[in-house]
Amino acid sequence: MSSTLFNPNLPLNEAKTPPASWYRSIYQDQQERRSVLANNWQVVAHLDELKDNSSFVSGCAGSEPWVITRDQEGQLHAFANVCRHNGTQVADGAGKQEQLVCPYHGWRYELNGRLAKAPRIGGVADFSRDKYSLKPLSLQVWGPLVMISSQPHATQLQLDELTQRLDAMNWTGLERITRRTYDIQCNWKVFVDNYLDGGYHVPFLHQDLSAELDLKGYKTELFEGYSIQSVAGQKEAGDRLAGDALYAWVYPNLMLNRYGNMMDINVVVPLSTESCRVIFDWYAEPGLSEDFISASLKSSEQVQKEDIYICERLQVGMGSIHFEPGPYAPTVEMGKYQFHQMLAADLKRS
Ligand SMILES: [Fe+2]
Repeated sequence: MSSTLFNPNLPLNEAKTPPASWYRSIYQDQQERRSVLANNWQVVAHLDELKDNSSFVSGCAGSEPWVITRDQEGQLHAFANVCRHNGTQVADGAGKQEQLVCPYHGWRYELNGRLAKAPRIGGVADFSRDKYSLKPLSLQVWGPLVMISSQPHATQLQLDELTQRLDAMNWTGLERITRRTYDIQCNWKVFVDNYLDGGYHVPFLHQDLSAELDLKGYKTELFEGYSIQSVAGQKEAGDRLAGDALYAWVYPNLMLNRYGNMMDINVVVPLSTESCRVIFDWYAEPGLSEDFISASLKSSEQVQKEDIYICERLQVGMGSIHFEPGPYAPTVEMGKYQFHQMLAADLKRS
């Protein structure tokens, strides 16, 4: 096999990891934004951001600006945040308002996407406001999370087994407490790969964390479109890592960690071929003490720093003329291979 190709059809114990071009080429990056990120479900918001009628939240997923609204009747909508006049992003940030108004030429849209007013457009041949609604995206609410797909009629994500396990861990009884954003000098897939190595790196890179976990019981299970890594808990009730821990990944860029009294949701989006942004949202059981939460966030931050350190070192190593794809560790890296196989299938379809 040429070192510039990835073969997704080999058994795990014969497969080789993807070539450096997957992590370094501008062509690959552009193809992924269209065929992988825009075409699959992505978590972009949290239900608590859209509690009130007439609220909205907006952002950018890969190269696709989006806006989600809750209209005056309480109905949720997702749109491409792209004005139908010249393409300016209409909504900015989040807030509450009765209409979305483009800051460039004042085009106004109802929260259901319909164009309400377009100033100074009189005289345009065959103009009809009906033809200029904001373009709808698919929307799915999953537990406390709001997901979109840029495909207008995307099939809803099926996450039955994962949802059952999270329901049993009371994930919808938690409250979102804080968000932190990390910009990292690595391709977005380096961060995902690191997450999906089945705990392989934990004893080497996260020595404090591994002292708290029984890594012998660490396991990875593969499902269609997602994987679940888990480790049986051995801590006392009240400890940060008490009970079982579940680390779920949903293709392509969502990671959800449920442990003890807390949960964190991580979404990774590309900034460039060799940099990405990871958005962490922490949830906690109501009523936890400030001290408990700040100690927990501190431990989490430590693990995150260690992961950033290694991801940035990997990105540099992959840029070497001496880099070539290596093997997957067959007993632990099955989730990583699944990710690469799914990516290869999406890229082939495009
Ligand atoms: Fe890690």
